[in-house]
Amino acid sequence: MIMEYTNNSCRPIHILFVGAGAVGCFYASRLHHPASNIHVSLVCRSNYSIIAKSGVTLKTHTFGDYQFKPAAVYSSISDAATSKEAPAEGWDYVVVTIKALPDVTDDSMDIEPLIKRAPTGKTCILLIQNGVGVEEPHRARFPSNPLISAVTIISAEQISQGVVRQNRWTRISMGTYSDGLGGKTWEAKQLNERGNQCVKELVHLFTEYGKLRDAEFYDEISNQHVRWHKICINASMNPSAVLSGGIGNADMVMDPELRMHLKGCMDEVFKAAPAILGTPFPEKLAKPDLILTSSERNKGGRPSMLIDWEAGRPMELEVILGNPVRIARRHGVEMPRLQSLYALLKSAQGRRDAEKASKKVLEQEALKVKSTL
Ligand SMILES: NC(=O)c1ccc[n+]([C@@H]2O[C@H](COP(=O)([O-])OP(=O)(O)OC[C@H]3O[C@@H](n4cnc5c(N)ncnc54)[C@H](OP(=O)(O)O)[C@@H]3O)[C@@H](O)[C@H]2O)c1
Repeated sequence: MIMEYTNNSCRPIHILFVGAGAVGCFYASRLHHPASNIHVSLVCRSNYSIIAKSGVTLKTHTFGDYQFKPAAVYSSISDAATSKEAPAEGWDYVVVTIKALPDVTDDSMDIEPLIKRAPTGKTCILLIQNGVGVEEPHRARFPSNPLISAVTIISAEQISQGVVRQNRWTRISMGTYSDGLGGKTWEAKQLNERGNQCVKELVHLFTEYGKLRDAEFYDEISNQHVRWHKICINASMNPSAVLSGGIGNADMVMDPELRMHLKGCMDEVFKAAPAILGTPFPEKLAKPDLILTSSERNKGGRPSMLIDWEAGRPMELEVILGNPVRIARRHGVEMPRLQSLYALLKSAQGRRDAEKASKKVLEQEALKVKSTL
């Protein structure tokens, strides 16, 4: 559901993206419009020096190639939170675009100094991350801040430090998150209304200045449907790509046994989500058979979980598998296929990390021995 919104005020809008990777740099570059008083800054990490020096190079399928020079570039969250140049009244929007890894870091705790820079409840937090349940830690830590949950359909990657390639798609679907139930109490209703205003403003900014054709407004519950619908794809395809030995989406769906397995996973989410959200999936959302058929065309598509696994990085296992399984269970629904994928991959990741750690210890000991010889 797309809603009209016109922001006629010329007030400055200060936006800070935390996580200058593929998704962060792409959407930040679309929002930055200093001539219209929209100022977008980035919190970087390993790519800080190159982005601080030269900005971000975008190579996009949709908008061609261009350079993005942020309003400010920070080397860390604490650098941004304590900077004298940062807006004195804090940011209007803090956008979280780091990978969602609650088993490694608590994003809500990490961004607290940024939110505290503004008067209580002023900053709107926008999460552009995969998975479900990502909102809960932020809602608990920042009870009076508007919180927006965004689902993206995009294929983008950082191909070298400070260079981001968008391969296809731009869709960003956004909805407020008050209590996850659409605002049941008086306080949640107020938050829900403020959140909706922020979503409308963001849709306007992305559409008017970012020239995105598919920045979408959703109400709180409809947005959770979109999130769970994406889980249907991510929770089936991503772990299966790893456990099947590194096969991409199109090849998986062409294998009859794997296709049956993927359909079984998707059916579980299709059964669980309505029980969790209290309403059926809207008819317009593609059913498992259609998702499988359209995946046949996604040749070369490799899920990010597979790429992270191959690179030895932590995978977004908890938000893509662990949370869905736990949330469904709280609502009396078991998802046995997803639970098996979760158990197997969590164990494989644990073993991989333990082996990496013991290899490191052995290498350090060998170095010590060498230096005493
Ligand atoms: N890429 C896609 O096509 C796509 C599509 C749909 C959804 N998503 C979702 O979007 C989210 C972001 O994904 P992505 O592909 O953009 O990931 P990414 O390219 O790995 O970017 C994440 C960035 O966050 C930085 N970061 C991590 N912790 C940080 C911290 N504490 N402070 C500052 N920077 C920090 C990382 O820095 P380092 O490089 O130093 O680690 C990296 O630059 C994920 O939830 C993903 O599942 C991605």
